[in-house]
Amino acid sequence: MVKKIIIANWKMNPQTSKEAERIFNSLTNNLRQITKNKKSKLKNVEIIICPSFTHLPLLSVVGRRSSVKFGAQDVFWELQGAYTGEISAAMLKDLKCQYVIIGHSERRKFGETDDMVNKKVLASANDGLNVILCVGEHYRENHNEIPAIVEEQVRLALAGVPKSMLDKIIIAYEPVWAIGSGMPDTPEGAMMAAVLIRKTVIGILGSAAKNLRIVYGGSVNAENAGSFINHESIDGVLVGGASLDPREFAKIILSAK
Ligand code: PGA
Repeated sequence: MVKKIIIANWKMNPQTSKEAERIFNSLTNNLRQITKNKKSKLKNVEIIICPSFTHLPLLSVVGRRSSVKFGAQDVFWELQGAYTGEISAAMLKDLKCQYVIIGHSERRKFGETDDMVNKKVLASANDGLNVILCVGEHYRENHNEIPAIVEEQVRLALAGVPKSMLDKIIIAYEPVWAIGSGMPDTPEGAMMAAVLIRKTVIGILGSAAKNLRIVYGGSVNAENAGSFINHESIDGVLVGGASLDPREFAKIILSAK
């Protein structure tokens, strides 16, 4: 069974490890309670939580017996050395972190280029981390047409990535206009983007990319999550704001059929 992927991006929240622990424990308690008599419900989902770097050490210990996996929100491409303030893939793996978000629009906004995104993708996948690569346009003039920038971001980010690394890559389609705006894309819009992204990657890496996992992100909440998660061409969701509310996030997870 192919599992649906539900990713939480906590961004620069919360401000203390204690609060991070409370949110995490509250989420797992909510899931436990709701699924008390239907344990199988969680078997069809892969839950990935991406807290800030500073909360990762504690959460990876607190969550070690749960099925939740952890990811970071960024990584540097060099292996080690004089790179003040940066974090390497090896450091993340040392924290039992298995995933990393790369190229989020909130990082691109601060000057992260496609070239930097590409170096981060290559370094992470080479080092055995699973990559959650974010792409998405700022504006969509015609709602029925995904702008070419999405295709370009995918091409540039995956330059030099061999076929053998494909199973380490998840692409998150996150239209920038939908992030944090309360105005999500429609499932049809997200589906069109997923089709374009898959076609682009098949064009680069061949039919092996047929099974590439593509998720949607941008103003996902408990009400709309099911329409994205359960869409046949979408493999899951990347959730920002709503993932910090344990009850809401539990509902999002449980909306996977
Ligand atoms: P949002 O953020 O769910 O708050 O819109 C999504 C994201 O930035 O990944």
